[in-house]
Amino acid sequence: MTKRRSGKLVWGLVVLLALVLWIGTARAAGDAAAGARKAVYCAYCHGLDGNPIDLGVPRLAGQPARRLLARIKALESDGNIHAAMLKALLTGNIGERELVDLAAYYAAQQARTASGAGH
Ligand code: HEC
Repeated sequence: MTKRRSGKLVWGLVVLLALVLWIGTARAAGDAAAGARKAVYCAYCHGLDGNPIDLGVPRLAGQPARRLLARIKALESDGNIHAAMLKALLTGNIGERELVDLAAYYAAQQARTASGAGH
C-alpha cells in the first residue's frame, strides 16, 4: 500500500515538474497577443505594428525578439531619454514580463520598407 502510494506521488511530481517546465518555456518565448495590448503605449512613435511613420524612429516590426529585448535593456541602462520616457509613462504598466511579450509581438509583425529607418 505505501509502495503504491509513493509511486503515485512520484508520478504526480513528475507531471507537476513537466507542467512547470512547459509553462516556463511558454513564458520565456513571450506572448505576442499580450504584447499587442501593451503596444498601444509604443504606437505613438513606433507605429501600432512596429512600423514607424517618423523616419527617425527605428522599426521594430520583424526584428528578432532577442535583439529587441537586448536593445531595450541597453537603452534602459544608458539612462537616455527613451528609458526616462518609458519610466515616466509606463511605471506600473510595463515590467520584464511585458517587455518579453512586446518583443514577441513586434518580432511577429511584417516589416514594411516604405517607412521607418530600421537599423
Ligand atoms: C516618444 C517616442 C517613443 C515611444 C513612446 C517609444 N519609443 Fe522606443 N524608441 C524611440 C526612439 C527615438 C528610439 C531610438 C533610440 C536610440 O537609438 O537611441 C527608440 C528605440 C527603441 C528600441 C530599439 C530599436 C532598435 O532597433 O535599436 C526598442 C526595442 C524600442 N524603442 C521599444 C519601445 C517599446 C517596447 C515602447 C513602448 C513600451 C517604446 N519603444 C516607446 C521612441 C519611442
